[in-house]
Amino acid sequence: MSFQTLDHAVAGHLLTRLRETDTPSPEFRTLAHRLASILIVEATRSLQTTPKHITTPLEPMLGTQLTAAPVLVPILRAGLGMVPAAQEILPEASIGYIGLARDEATAEAKLYYCNLPDLNGKTVLLLDPMLATGGSAASAATHVYAAGAARVIMVAIVAAPEGVAFLQQAHPQLEIISASLDRELNEKKYILPGLGDFGDRLFGT
Ligand code: PRP
Ligand code: URA
Repeated sequence: MSFQTLDHAVAGHLLTRLRETDTPSPEFRTLAHRLASILIVEATRSLQTTPKHITTPLEPMLGTQLTAAPVLVPILRAGLGMVPAAQEILPEASIGYIGLARDEATAEAKLYYCNLPDLNGKTVLLLDPMLATGGSAASAATHVYAAGAARVIMVAIVAAPEGVAFLQQAHPQLEIISASLDRELNEKKYILPGLGDFGDRLFGT
């Protein structure tokens, strides 16, 4: 499994404001959108391309095009905050949904919805801003691989070392990119320093 963090001045600037307690939901959504854009561009750097013969106004040339659009799979709810940015960059991408909610007492992820298109041989961008214990991402990856995905790239905004290690064990072939690798989880399995509950801050709940 590969794990990569963004080393980017603008991403750091956006994430710092995203983390602040006093950032209200409308601004939080805007910042999440901008950060997701940077992450998606980086996550798709090595997608397979095919040569394409074109003609510019001046001469013919050999360009490239994506061989196939990846499939977006946001993990509900918080992953929805990354979908508009991903759609702007990959307008041809189809979208599947996985609904997972952590039990507040045990932090165990419970599946409540799964609607995936045929993923046979496809590349999937699994979208979830928070990678804490890794339970939600591991469960989502299991479903996505079971539906035939050939390559899965998990795109997160904040990751905890515990979650990255768990995913490494559960899905050795999974690729992960995150804007940050934070310090640790607290006793309630929240990420420190983190940003709190992403879904609540995104949706104002
Ligand atoms: C959050 C977050 C991840 C999960 C991460 O979702 O969006 O899906 O927790 O935690 P884990 O790595 O320990 O599984 P939550 O269950 O709070 O649901 P929500 O997105 O509906 O708020
Ligand atoms: N989910 C969140 O939204 N935040 C955390 O810190 C952990 C899980």
